[in-house]
Amino acid sequence: MRHLLSAADLSRAEAVRLLDVAEQMAATQQREIKKLPALRGRTVVNLFFEDSTRTRLSFETAAKRLSADVITFSAKGSSVSKGESLKDTALTLQAMGADAVVVRHSSSGAPHRLAEKGWTSGAVLNAGDGTHEHPTQALLDAFTLRRHLVGGGALGAAAGADLAGRRVVVVGDVLHSRVARSNVRLLHTLGAQVTLVAPPTLLPLGVETWPCEVSYDLDAALAGQTSGPPDAVMALRVQLERMNAAYFPSAREYSRRYGVTAERLAGLPPHAQLLHPGPMNRGLEITAEAADGPRSRVVEQVTNGVAVRMAALYLLLAGEEE
Ligand code: NCD
Repeated sequence: MRHLLSAADLSRAEAVRLLDVAEQMAATQQREIKKLPALRGRTVVNLFFEDSTRTRLSFETAAKRLSADVITFSAKGSSVSKGESLKDTALTLQAMGADAVVVRHSSSGAPHRLAEKGWTSGAVLNAGDGTHEHPTQALLDAFTLRRHLVGGGALGAAAGADLAGRRVVVVGDVLHSRVARSNVRLLHTLGAQVTLVAPPTLLPLGVETWPCEVSYDLDAALAGQTSGPPDAVMALRVQLERMNAAYFPSAREYSRRYGVTAERLAGLPPHAQLLHPGPMNRGLEITAEAADGPRSRVVEQVTNGVAVRMAALYLLLAGEEE
């Protein structure tokens, strides 16, 4: 593995290995001294052309915990056209010697361009490109699910485990969600069965070719009439900033049909988990009661993100030296 551009780049064995390494990284984060020398002398550049709180801080923390030098570049507000600004910025970073470039960009495919055009010789990690992919988010979601659904609990999942046979309902603005795309691919690779739930207007063209089921009815999907109730529900943010038209009649109507509420979760089996990648629109796609409730792994997802990104950086930059 030279870059991490898409969840589809990972075979089952590679994904499980990354999750296993992330478990080892997570164990080191329980120690009083959290810093490891693994990437000493390496430079990790965070190139963020789009807003981010969790992902940027998480990559920065992960790189620092591995003793890499970290440069964070927030390019928001640049007036240069996207393609040019990406190229020029990448060439500048290349001149400074970046071993890894973590990119978030509003254009789908930007990290792939960076990797393919040779604008950087470092490893490229996709931190979210447009509505396309967000592989490290899918990995931290899978890591969180594996911990809670495949033994171990917060103490860590069994090494080598995948998510075979687990059922995951992903509900919300699938159309604009790179998190949904990456999750469908990775969860499928790991053997889970995914059901996407959204109003027809918030489903992308061609969704029927994705390796998952599709439903317009959240209550039916949670009841699991055909395949059994889900082991986890992942709520997606309604991405108002990517909407140029009305995709649903009103916020109230959306919440009524697609909102994750404590009442809806109450019918699920006791072990069922609730995930949301953040940032949450409390009161729209998820109620505060559900978000702060006992099934919610929302805060833990952020913690797990650091371990997963440490594993990704480590395997890309130092993995071959083992
Ligand atoms: C997601 C993103 O940016 O794609 N957030 C994240 O990385 N934690 C999801 C979102 O913005 O809704």
